[in-house]
Amino acid sequence: MRLALPILLLILPCSSFAIASSASQRSRGAAVFQVSGCQHCHTIRTVGGHKGPDLSSVGRRKSKAAIRQQIVYGSKVMPAFGDVLAPDELSDVIAYLRSCRDKPKP
Ligand code: HEC
Repeated sequence: MRLALPILLLILPCSSFAIASSASQRSRGAAVFQVSGCQHCHTIRTVGGHKGPDLSSVGRRKSKAAIRQQIVYGSKVMPAFGDVLAPDELSDVIAYLRSCRDKPKP
């Protein structure tokens, strides 16, 4: 049992407080984030690339709808993932990102 908490914190780096999604949904979303290429461009808590903005506090800045819009349609630089992710992968990764609410660095 001693190991369980650190392992959970490792899997769920952003879900440190209660949000309207389940822990399993957020951990599936974290996995989607890693394997779908998001992490190649985006950093969360010091892990990831820098082509796109750091998403450690994106849940504070952006609504669920705005995050969904960005992922589904992409932008000039970010590819659209609307046809890449399955509907449940999309909602899982959005739940994960909504839970990424680090305080912005001073
Ligand atoms: C090729 C690099 C690249 C990949 C891959 C990528 N993004 Fe992005 N993303 C960007 C860039 C650049 C922006 C900056 C805003 C813009 O250009 O519209 C961005 C913006 C965002 C934003 C808005 C951030 C903010 O601070 O407003 C979210 C959320 C996001 N991306 C999520 C994702 C997710 C989830 C994935 C994977 C499914 C992903 N991105 C894959 C480059 C990328």
